[in-house]
Amino acid sequence: MIIILIGYMASGKSSIGKRLAKKLNYKFVDLDDYIEDKENLSVSKIFKKKGEVYFRKQESHYLKKLLKKDKNMILAVGGGTPCYSDNMKLILGADEVKSIYLKASLPTLANKLMEKKAKRPLIAHIETLEAMTEFIGKHLFERMPFYEQAETHVSIDGKDKDEVTEEVAEKLL
Ligand code: S3P
Repeated sequence: MIIILIGYMASGKSSIGKRLAKKLNYKFVDLDDYIEDKENLSVSKIFKKKGEVYFRKQESHYLKKLLKKDKNMILAVGGGTPCYSDNMKLILGADEVKSIYLKASLPTLANKLMEKKAKRPLIAHIETLEAMTEFIGKHLFERMPFYEQAETHVSIDGKDKDEVTEEVAEKLL
């Protein structure tokens, strides 16, 4: 079984994924880390040196590779992964794959991302909470139709990471 965590940047895909992997005794893979390792460059540097189109191409390539190869894995994909190429179709059509959408409200994401924007090239330049909220609001509106195709949705608002992990695990049973 491969469990794929999807959701916007800072929705907790990696931190929940690591906790879930421990709980289920699964392997944990973060798609961004996997890409950085294979490409020998950080995501920010890939965007800067090679451009977003190249990043999206590699993101899709490595997603396909991981879906073929690995079993008993929790896979945290990037916030944009479900929204490019045919990635969401691929995720939904793959055998032995479950998709979970970690859903967060706009204020939760905007506040978290003001603290965690540095390594995220799409938002690193945004300076105020107001501008962040405006950007994310539009971005989420475009991305939501992809995220919402996930089989299971779990809201993260007002919950700590252990509570979210528990809820995801329960929904997987
Ligand atoms: C992106 C999200 C990032 C990373 C890249 C682009 C996006 O991953 O893949 O910066 O398009 O939302 P996280 O969701 O882990 O921050």
